[in-house]
Amino acid sequence: MASDKPEYNLNNRVPPLGFDGGCSNIIDTEKFRQAVALLKESLFDGGATLFCSDNLITWNKNLSFLRDDQLVNIVNDPETDVTERSIIWRSYILFYFARASLDVDGDFIEAGTYRGHTAEQILKLCELGKHDKKLWLYDVFEWKEGDEHPKMDEHRNALMYEDVVSRFSPYSNVNIIKGSVPESFSEGFPDSIAFCHIDMNHPAPEAGALREVLPRLSKDGAIIFDDYGWWGYSAQKNALDPIASSFGLEILELPTGQGLLIKR
Ligand SMILES: C[S@@+](CC[C@H](N)C(=O)[O-])C[C@H]1O[C@@H](n2cnc3c(N)ncnc32)[C@H](O)[C@@H]1O
Repeated sequence: MASDKPEYNLNNRVPPLGFDGGCSNIIDTEKFRQAVALLKESLFDGGATLFCSDNLITWNKNLSFLRDDQLVNIVNDPETDVTERSIIWRSYILFYFARASLDVDGDFIEAGTYRGHTAEQILKLCELGKHDKKLWLYDVFEWKEGDEHPKMDEHRNALMYEDVVSRFSPYSNVNIIKGSVPESFSEGFPDSIAFCHIDMNHPAPEAGALREVLPRLSKDGAIIFDDYGWWGYSAQKNALDPIASSFGLEILELPTGQGLLIKR
């Protein structure tokens, strides 16, 4: 009698994939390069599955995001800069939870927009317009002497804000609000929020954002914190954990350095 039990061939593997991107906080790049080369030599597959990027080294993983055409297109797009390419695993996680929030009541927001790269990918990959959702983007879009937030390359661009406005001009469902979070929320802030990305590299605006977002985050809505798990940004973890806890919630630290909170 034929068995209706499915048969699995344990050798039925996806082709091995590896990835090499930028890492930070390294004081001796030559030693690091040698160490990665030695690591490759030491591995059972000769390093074919080695992922080394964004301070994350793994091997013997499927790296599903490198098998997804939309994410591969982002990696290969000449408009994607080195950092944006290197954080592809973070982006994969972010897009996964953004998509998962499409059925949740409310709009999407990003506190800390920078050039708008991630925000535009969310807009496109989630087809927010088709889902009748708005995307609210918040940033100071500048850096002045004495400012507490870290100065980044794009802050040298005097037209940082204007360039982001122009980037999103084809989309009618995007609101861009220039100013310091959380005070700038008074210029416009959705009544209910389905998905939120918090990425400002500083505990003060991040804590301020979380306090304002949590009461408006819908049930099953998600927040991704870009910096939560990074040791260098521990001050953010220390600031954010008690706020989440005061709402009976807990932030999950992910291996990418992100934090994930889902409101149940
Ligand atoms: C790491 S970047 C954001 C990157 C962006 N989320 C992306 O994925 O491309 C951090 C941004 O936070 C902004 N920022 C820092 N402090 C802020 C504050 N108090 N209010 C609003 N934006 C702030 C900075 O101007 C900078 O553009």
